[in-house]
Amino acid sequence: MSNRTFTMIKPDATSKGYTGAILDEIIQAGYSIKALKWTKLSKELASEFYSVHKERGFFGELVDYMSSGPIIAAILEKENAVTDFRKLIGATNPANAEEGTIRKKYAASVAENAIHGSDSDENAIIEGDFFFSKLERF
Ligand code: CMP
Repeated sequence: MSNRTFTMIKPDATSKGYTGAILDEIIQAGYSIKALKWTKLSKELASEFYSVHKERGFFGELVDYMSSGPIIAAILEKENAVTDFRKLIGATNPANAEEGTIRKKYAASVAENAIHGSDSDENAIIEGDFFFSKLERF
């Protein structure tokens, strides 16, 4: 059981002004921020980050969307971080997300779903390493 996960607040949420509210929910849920970045992905970097999905029908749409505006990337720490964070954000499709979850409150659709959370301890490390150097985290 790892105590770290990786998240992105996605372009739909940053463009609608939800960044502060979502970060506050994360902090109120007990996560400590170990790295934080306000950035914008190029199409090349979005393709690389999501390469595991490259055979999926929605890959082009996903890359266009994730490079369409600024994002927040962060490494978060809390006991049982990966599993608890997936509960906090809710189902990938906000239509299926439980009441009170971040996606239920802030996500528009399965494609524009406001926030990302790593699906395993291994991917949390890979995804955090994608965005942050050793100097940018503690
Ligand atoms: P996430 O689970 O963070 O990472 C993969 C992303 O692909 C997912 O969020 C959605 O943004 C996107 N995605 C998943 N399923 C679909 C779909 N059916 N149509 C469009 N985008 C999708």
